[in-house]
Amino acid sequence: MINPSIFKKRRERFISCLAGRAAIIPAASSVVHHADCEYPFRQNSDFWYLTGLDEPDAVALFLPHRPEGERFVLFVQPRDPAQEVWYGFRWGVDGALGHFGADKAHPLSEFPSRLGEYLTGAEAIAFRIGKHPKVEPLVLKVWAEHLDQAPRVGSAAFRLEAPCPLLHELRLRKQPDEVDRMREAARIGAEAHELARELARPGMNERQVQGLIEKHFVDQGARGPAYGSIVAGGDNACVLHYASNNQQLKDGDLLLIDAGCSLVDYYNSDITRTFPINGKFSGEQKALYEVVHSAQKQAISCVTPGCQAEEVHTTAVRNLVEGLVELGLLTGNVDGVIEQGAYRHLYMHRTGHWLGLDVHDVGAYRLGEYHVKLEPGMILTVEPGIYISDRLCVPEGQPEIQDRWKGIGIRIEDDILVNESGHEVLTSAAASSIELLEH
Ligand code: GLY
Ligand code: MN
Ligand code: MN
Repeated sequence: MINPSIFKKRRERFISCLAGRAAIIPAASSVVHHADCEYPFRQNSDFWYLTGLDEPDAVALFLPHRPEGERFVLFVQPRDPAQEVWYGFRWGVDGALGHFGADKAHPLSEFPSRLGEYLTGAEAIAFRIGKHPKVEPLVLKVWAEHLDQAPRVGSAAFRLEAPCPLLHELRLRKQPDEVDRMREAARIGAEAHELARELARPGMNERQVQGLIEKHFVDQGARGPAYGSIVAGGDNACVLHYASNNQQLKDGDLLLIDAGCSLVDYYNSDITRTFPINGKFSGEQKALYEVVHSAQKQAISCVTPGCQAEEVHTTAVRNLVEGLVELGLLTGNVDGVIEQGAYRHLYMHRTGHWLGLDVHDVGAYRLGEYHVKLEPGMILTVEPGIYISDRLCVPEGQPEIQDRWKGIGIRIEDDILVNESGHEVLTSAAASSIELLEH
């Protein structure tokens, strides 16, 4: 399923961006859950993007300054029957060469002794400080040695740079093969939301709905949830990162579900739907839902090549504030409310983010003073909401909130591909119109 030529093309593009810099990109390490039990392994997305190797602790070198046949080097855990009987198969050095297309491969234990030679002749070192606690001291030691030797050798990589701007600009613009995978993640995620709405009933526990959704993910061949699924009945929906998922669903409440899947190659969906648990919106719920839905539609309509991602947010905010003023939940001139941020007790987050191998995917949103403009191949979420609870104070000059509105939290989140003609809503198979949510 994983096509080695895709990774090869990515490496070629990355190496050509590096010019004379040598890049060091480490894999993720396993993370302890408790005692000697570990979380399921989750590869570092940069390392995955360039190698397709799903093993911990490996390190990839990209060396444009070396002759052909020495530009992609992998350090990997060596084959070891005693380790593999506990932790499973490893590709080892031969697999790194034969299966993952490395020009050279070595056991991980040789990284400290071989790194210096591979870096010789590089103009700079591209390595992300602060993220790789096992590899960082080794890199810094070798770099310090290079600097010490520079007066006699006559040159050294004097600069240490973050590889992120180069690599993340590549990851931000999805290639057609990546768009296909994002469509698949969106399809499975959207189906799971449809299923959850069909089956959710008053009296069920939030965690039972979580189980239904996540079962669908794995049934459909995904790795599992892309992030901690949020299944939040009633007022729990006003907790943006609600993680407990342990309350009973109540007749008359809304249910907010923010859940998406991660495929075996780590492409993700990120979808939120909010619907009445008993199949009928109350008057207040419907009024607020209409405001969020209309704000989302307006915001999505901004997604087109050349538009700034920032406009998506400002459009959502304007529409939400207009709707809330009409309902009497905010008061005053719309521009003034926006300028003062006097809506933030009801809408306190941004309207979206890039989406890809990371759920909050890499890529700049602004470059200095300039907001990034959308281009075909970029994928972002559009996820406005309204959250009415007692948690935040009402700003001075804004109306106190009547009890009939409290405990309503609504968010609608779709995954949007920017294409040549505008956009495609990848997650539209998950219903969001009031007519389809009621039964
Ligand atoms: N589920 C995380 C987010 O919506 O950003
Ligand atoms: Mn999101
Ligand atoms: Mn989400």
